[in-house]
This record gives sequence, structure tokens and C-alpha cells, in this order.
Amino acid sequence: MPDTTIEKSSASATEALQAQRDLQLFYLFSTTLLSTMQLNKLLHLILSALVCEDNGLFCRAMLFLYNQKTDMLQGMLGICRSNTDGFRVVFSDPDNPLSGYWDLDADAIARQMQSDLCLKVRETRIDLSEGCRIVSHVVENKRLYRINDVECLNCRDCDFISRFGISSFVAVPLVTRNNLIGVIIVDNPVKHQPITDQQLKVLQLFANQAGMAIENTRLYRNLEETHNELQDTRQRLVHGAHLAAIGEMAASISHELKTPLITIGGFAARLGRMLPENTPQRHYLDTIISESHRLERLLGDILAFSRKPTICFQECNLRGVVKECLDDYVVLLGERKITLETSVPSGSWTVLGDSNQLKQVCINLLVNAQEAMPQGGRLQVGLRAGGDGGRPCAVVSITDSGGGIPEELQSKIFTPFFTTKRHGTGLGLAIVNRIVQNHGGSLKVFNTDDGAEFQVILPLAPFDDPQTA
Ligand SMILES: Nc1ncnc2c1ncn2[C@@H]1O[C@H](COP(=O)(O)OP(=O)(O)OP(=O)(O)O)[C@@H](O)[C@H]1O
Ligand SMILES: [Mg+2]
Repeated sequence: MPDTTIEKSSASATEALQAQRDLQLFYLFSTTLLSTMQLNKLLHLILSALVCEDNGLFCRAMLFLYNQKTDMLQGMLGICRSNTDGFRVVFSDPDNPLSGYWDLDADAIARQMQSDLCLKVRETRIDLSEGCRIVSHVVENKRLYRINDVECLNCRDCDFISRFGISSFVAVPLVTRNNLIGVIIVDNPVKHQPITDQQLKVLQLFANQAGMAIENTRLYRNLEETHNELQDTRQRLVHGAHLAAIGEMAASISHELKTPLITIGGFAARLGRMLPENTPQRHYLDTIISESHRLERLLGDILAFSRKPTICFQECNLRGVVKECLDDYVVLLGERKITLETSVPSGSWTVLGDSNQLKQVCINLLVNAQEAMPQGGRLQVGLRAGGDGGRPCAVVSITDSGGGIPEELQSKIFTPFFTTKRHGTGLGLAIVNRIVQNHGGSLKVFNTDDGAEFQVILPLAPFDDPQTA
């Protein structure tokens, strides 16, 4: 056989071998990209595949992701050949050679992150308006650039080039649907081996697939986040529906129990009037009467709490509401050795709402204040103008000298059924809170020097100015 024929056939055999090798690489690369959904791991696998000894492509690879808002490339990852231990081919089916893909365990990923190159890359940001000219070209034209010698391009003063000791290199953009995701930069800094055309082809194909895979993992992550949010919302809705069902059930049971209870209390009171005082029978009846009153109150509270918020919006004078409550209460306070100090200036203090519900707010707070001072004390009730988020408001304050609320309980006291009292239902403040919120207001609580202060803040009716009335 003539020499030229031998040369030709050995060249085509080498080409065939090379083509087979490249095909194998692409196959492994695409199965790897398909089997990885975590963005971070995917980036490590892409760069490791470009620099590992077995593939013999490049010695060093760096990845920069594009930030559209700042128009900058942010360094994400840098891997050199000496840092690819742990990068290996695994087979999902040991009997099937086509089931192989590249993998890296968590330790190997952590080691890569800690390498000097990676730390340096992660500190690097390339400002595209004034940074490396070559990288800016890659971004602008969205195509691969091979630079054989940066010296001849006057790149010596470029921060980026000198920082990484770059001489010859290739920069390839990662693009999906014409959007730039980032740039991969590869080179052979130690051996200074030239980058061949064949390597460029492989790199370009890798970059095309990598861009799509990165985009896919991002989309997948967004989808997962949206899915989790949807699931949370669904759970909250189901929980809300359950609560509503429980509330309705509690309301109907309370309603059914209330009627016979009133009858029991009423007849017990009648019987009581027929019996002489200070007899055991009268004492038994008094106990029945007081306990049935307690149960009536409890059922009333449960009804008030579980009832759908229906407010009859009418103009009501808050000063009148506060005064009425105090009038009902002043005798009891005297009996309990509680001195009352009021500061309720005249004026119209008109709020839009339901005066019965607002009365319930004041009464619940007054009862709590009185219960906090079993040995007596000082109760201050005030009404003043205030502002809440720019809206003119009325502030009703009820301050006692009962020692205040321990800090660890402050976040719990508005929770339905939370109570520290032997006979409390724990619904008083929950009802107050709900009524105030339904009126567009807010409730605040503070500890003072010797007690607690509750502030009910309600928006004043439009055009109502208490100072002028
Ligand atoms: N003025 C106050 N001083 C100290 N602690 C208070 C005061 N007001 C409320 N608390 C605390 O908040 C808890 C909850 O109050 P809430 O009015 O909701 O229920 P309750 O008073 O225990 O029972 P009830 O349903 O009969 O009102 C009380 O048990 C008490 O520990
Ligand atoms: Mg209470």
C-alpha cells in the first residue's frame, strides 16, 4: 500500500475515534444534565466535566452568571483540574452501559467551593460597561471568542486578565432563547497548551446544553416555590374552613344550651325566693343560680366569638359608650376598693360602628382591669384624639394598677381560650380584638409602672373633629 494511502486511512481512523469519543462525552453530558435538578450541583458538574483529567479538554474553568439589573457578571464558581477528585461516572442500571451519568458527592462539592480559585472567582464582579473588553464582546454578541494571546490585545491592564493570570483563553456565553444567562471562561494556564478547534466545538455544544439545563433548573425551582406557596395557601384555606365549621358548630350548640340554661336559672331563682335564707337548701339553690349564670355568660361569649362579624354601621358617640359602661360599673368598683380616675373630655367623638359591640369592648377591658386588682387599686379611663397611619382616631385607654402582664404571656393573651383565671373562659380579649378589628381599629397593650394599659384605637367618622363640637 502506498505511503499516502496508509497516512489517509490512519488519519480517518483517528478522526473516527475522536468522533466516537466526542459522541460519548455528549451523551454523558446530556444524561447528567437530565438527571440533575439542583442548580448548584449542576454548575459543579458542568465545570468539572470541562476540566477533568479523563475528558482532557481544559485545565481551568470559571463560571460567571449575568445580573441584568446591575449589568454585571457575578463570579459563581471556579474549578481547576486538580480539584475534580470525586467527579465520576455512575450507572443507574449496572447492566446498562447507556445509563451512565456524571456525579459528584456533597463533600467533593464542598472541597471545590473552598478552593483558592473558587474563592477568588466568587469575589469577582465584571462590570460590563467598563470591565474586560473581551468578556463584554462575548456578552454583547452572544458568541464564543478564542483569544490566543492577550498580550497582543493590550489587555495587560485589564483587572480581570491580570487577576487570574490569563494568557490564552476561550469565553463562551450561556444563552437560552436569546437571553444571556452567563459566561464560561476556560484556559490552560500551566501547560499553555493551545486550544484546538475540536475542543472549541465540544465547548460550544456543552455551553448550548448547559444554558438550557440551567434555565430548566431555574424554572423547576420557580415551579417548586410556586407549588409550595399554593400548597400553603390551600392548607390555610382548609384550616380556615375547618375553623369556620367548628365556629358554626360551637354557635349552634351554645344556642341550644342557652335556652334550657336560662329556664334552669329562672326556676331556681323562683324556688330560691320561696326558701328561707341561711338554710342548706337555699345555699344549694344559690350555687345552682350562680353556676348557671356563669355558664350563660360562657355561652354568650362563645356565641359572640363564633358569630359572623355583622356590624350595623351607625354613627355612635364613643364618649357616650364609655360613660354608659362606667355608670354601670362605678358601684362595683367602689365595693372592690378601686378608685376611678377619668379623663373623658366632652365632644362628639363620633365613630362609625355598632355601639353595643363597642360597649362590650369597654366592659371586657374594665372587667379584666378589675379582676387584675383583687385587693383594690387605681383605675384610669381616658379618651383622647390620636392618629393611626395618618387617619384621625379616638383612643380609649384603660389603665389599672394590678401589676401588669408578664412579658412571656403578652403574645398569648389575645388567643381564644387562653386564660390564667380559675373561672375565666379566655374569650374576653379575643372578642375585644375581633370587634376592634371589624371596626377598622387596633388594640395595643403596654405594661406601666404598676399595671397594664390597654388602648383601643378607633378611626373617627369622616369630618368629625372632637375639639370643635
Ligand atoms: N388588665 C390585665 N392585667 C393583667 N393581666 C391581664 C389583664 N387583662 C388580661 N390579662 C391576662 O390575659 C388573659 C386573657 O384575658 P381574657 O379577658 O381574654 O380572658 P379571661 O379574663 O381570662 O377570661 P374571660 O373570658 O372571662 O374574660 C387573662 O387570663 C389574664 O392573664
Ligand atoms: Mg377577661
